[in-house]
Amino acid sequence: MAVLITGASSGFGAAMSRKFVQAGFYVIGAARRAEKLESLSRELGESFQGVVMDVADRHSIDGALDEIDGLPEAFREIDCLINNAGLALGLEPAYQADWSDWETVIQTNVSGLAYLTRQVLPQMVARGEGYIMNIGSIAGTYPYPGGNIYGASKAFVRQFSLNLRADLHGTGVRVSNIEPGLCGGSEFSYVRFRGDEERARQLYENAGPLLPEDIADTVLWLYQTPKHMNVNSLEVMPVSQSFGALPVYRHSADGADSLQLQNGDSGRDSFLGKVTRWVRNNF
Ligand SMILES: NC(=O)c1ccc[n+]([C@@H]2O[C@H](COP(=O)([O-])OP(=O)(O)OC[C@H]3O[C@@H](n4cnc5c(N)ncnc54)[C@H](OP(=O)(O)O)[C@@H]3O)[C@@H](O)[C@H]2O)c1
Repeated sequence: MAVLITGASSGFGAAMSRKFVQAGFYVIGAARRAEKLESLSRELGESFQGVVMDVADRHSIDGALDEIDGLPEAFREIDCLINNAGLALGLEPAYQADWSDWETVIQTNVSGLAYLTRQVLPQMVARGEGYIMNIGSIAGTYPYPGGNIYGASKAFVRQFSLNLRADLHGTGVRVSNIEPGLCGGSEFSYVRFRGDEERARQLYENAGPLLPEDIADTVLWLYQTPKHMNVNSLEVMPVSQSFGALPVYRHSADGADSLQLQNGDSGRDSFLGKVTRWVRNNF
């Protein structure tokens, strides 16, 4: 039996592929970029099979699942599906966002995840065991400016995971939603900022972010927990990240509008003020 990991060509998915193979499992890594999968296959050897799959395209998912049916026997049954493929595009406010970006995010993070899960579940239910692991995000719980469709897509992942638990009650199939916070070392921000490497680098500079290996370790641990145990949701942040007070926008007669935080911090020099100016200057 095998672990099917989507988005295996970089970041979390590549790190998970390495950890699972090192732990002795058979891994099918799916993504669009064949050359990245081939390179991973050369690195990981016979326990890894790469399969080209565009999760935003139902036909591509069906084709990849047919291909998996033709793989060596150890790979044909999927014991664990890790729905990791996903992306954010841009940080513009909703009234400036590009609709086709939103469609891509919905097709990848929502439709693709749901369709692949729908296609893989019957074999798990028939066997009376299996594991669906969905990679959500803290953005699905905590709103932030520019998070709009990405955060909403991850809120879908959280609720879909919980509803799967309800549907799968009594089948033996487990479901977890893992919600990482700020994580560097992947292509996530490079993709979000449309190839602007410098901007992506600055986001993580001196921030002590999580690393893809941290998420891979967490996911491997979840898979190895006893089969009678189900972790419904798991939120993981770097120590350097936490929560902010809610901002209040104040109009002023002299035009010097300001932001005030609910904890009383206020004015132009507050951290939020700086962040807001930075966002205004950069988008
Ligand atoms: N990094 C973070 O801070 C963070 C935090 C919370 C949650 N997450 C979530 O974690 C997951 C992995 O992100 P990451 O940080 O590892 O980013 P990443 O390095 O950009 O990896 C994303 C992966 O998804 C694949 N992918 C994108 N669109 C696809 C499609 N249509 N079909 C198939 N594969 C597709 C990419 O492969 P191809 O381009 O080769 O197809 C790539 O392997 C995502 O769901 C992301 O939303 C990330």
